[in-house]
Amino acid sequence: FNTNAFQKDLVTWFIENQRELPWRENKDPYRVWVSEIMLQQTRVDTVIPYYTNFMREFPKLEDLAYANEEQILKAWEGLGYYSRVRNLQSAVREVVENYQGQVPETRGEISQLKGVGPYTAGAILSIAFGKVEPAVDGNVMRVLSRALDIEEDIAKPKTRKIFEDALYELIPQADPSSFNQGLMELGALVCTPTSPGCLLCPVREHCRAYERGKQSQLPVKTKK
Ligand code: ADE
Repeated sequence: FNTNAFQKDLVTWFIENQRELPWRENKDPYRVWVSEIMLQQTRVDTVIPYYTNFMREFPKLEDLAYANEEQILKAWEGLGYYSRVRNLQSAVREVVENYQGQVPETRGEISQLKGVGPYTAGAILSIAFGKVEPAVDGNVMRVLSRALDIEEDIAKPKTRKIFEDALYELIPQADPSSFNQGLMELGALVCTPTSPGCLLCPVREHCRAYERGKQSQLPVKTKK
């Protein structure tokens, strides 16, 4: 497996082919954070108008911290899983109180904020701050299980750590943001659950599953 070539081909593809999405306009950590919370249980197409509206209503972290409950629930209405926005507000209030309004830049600190799990922590740290930190969700496990031919059961909670450990070695220092988003984007657009688009894949020549003709057998996922 050629790590350098995989990194370069993935990052180049992402930079040239990424979708224009409203949360990619800039790397304000608060904006990245809101997008990742919305995207946790909701599809990209559904999130876009909610995200745009939310940012118009609460453009800065302080605006959300000082909003009242009625305002935040109204902005979230239709997205569901309302504990997401309640937790998000508790967390931004904590950032105002304990970090002078600056989102903390370490996994240890950011993970203590309400609603920020390992995936969200890694997404914010890599995308907004350029840190070498993995952001492992189902899409990323699917892409990496194929690229590296990892047969661990992705339905098992322990498996995420295996992918995180692999990613600490795989994320390039030069551009962790584009690399992690490239994995997400590849999973969304090309390396899809059924009939992955290998013939259009920018990292096909580095993919162990493709080489072995087993891309449709990965990831291994038992029913819970
Ligand atoms: N899904 C989760 N995070 C995402 C992001 N930053 N862009 C697109 N899809 C995503």
